[in-house]
Amino acid sequence: MTCAPGLKLVDRDAGGVDLAFRADVLAGLAEPQKAIPARWFYDDEGSQLFEDITQLPEYYPTRAETEILTQRSGDIANLIGPGWAVVEFGSGSSVKTPLLLSAIAPSAYVPLDIAGDFLRASSAALSAKFPELPVWPVEADFMRRVELPVEVADLPKLGFFPGSTIGNMIARTATDLLRSMRETLGEGALLLIGMDLVKDEDVLLAAYDDAQGVTAKFNCNLLHRINRELDADIPVASFAHEARWNDVFARVEMHLVAREDVSFTVSGQRFAMRAGESIHTENSHKFTKRSAQQLLAAGGWEPRARWTDEAKRFSLVLAESRPPRSAP
Ligand code: AVJ
Repeated sequence: MTCAPGLKLVDRDAGGVDLAFRADVLAGLAEPQKAIPARWFYDDEGSQLFEDITQLPEYYPTRAETEILTQRSGDIANLIGPGWAVVEFGSGSSVKTPLLLSAIAPSAYVPLDIAGDFLRASSAALSAKFPELPVWPVEADFMRRVELPVEVADLPKLGFFPGSTIGNMIARTATDLLRSMRETLGEGALLLIGMDLVKDEDVLLAAYDDAQGVTAKFNCNLLHRINRELDADIPVASFAHEARWNDVFARVEMHLVAREDVSFTVSGQRFAMRAGESIHTENSHKFTKRSAQQLLAAGGWEPRARWTDEAKRFSLVLAESRPPRSAP
């Protein structure tokens, strides 16, 4: 893998502290509604806990999306055809990537991820599975426009963004990301994107508050991570995991609720919370056919095909790059 010398994806201070992590935590805890971006869940411990979540009986999205990729692979392959450079946004550690790659006979695979070690490991595993397929991993933050390897310059690009990760972003951020994906992928690109669907509130809340408490552990790990990495003394046992349905924004929110009045220090700064006050740690937006189409259109993508699982819990949308029209 090539990386411009001196180009650092993670900025650390002399003590090894991730400066962006500290800045986000300190700024987020100073807000009236405390909030920390969901991307900070994914340290080694958090990434493992998310893998555990995907195996839970209540957490349907992974199974539903895998069902679509398996059951509808013929259909998907017919529409897309062979010869694409598949560009995956985010880690390709999942079982979903091989399902897509074996369905459509691509000419190259370009996984993009900010976590270099993880990226190299999953690329190696994938190469072992598809020895004939050229794999060009790129260590990059996919929230910005990415320079793709010259080796895929002449190939048509198919973006792959599974898992409904787009649902973690508020509309404005999601739109920005979809637009930067268009720039990264270039003219004539396609995008295959997973988008979770609005459904019964009880089903949604159970998916984010499972009986075994794995999601609670995943959420609380953020506090442990802050304590571990940012010289903090948050009393983790004084917090409770909570999943809430926000009907206005059609999203599941995860919060860490203080069960009593607490005060703590993070990197030398003092914070206090009243009993019942929360730290908002994640949004997971849910879509309808129409709201999905609207978001994609705002980002410059026009749906060409759409598949759901049998139980209609999750959607996979194939969209075509289209310049977003200005008014009206
Ligand atoms: C990885 C962002 C798709 O929002 O469903 C799972 C993360 N959070 N359980 C999601 C998550 C709590 C997941 N995504």
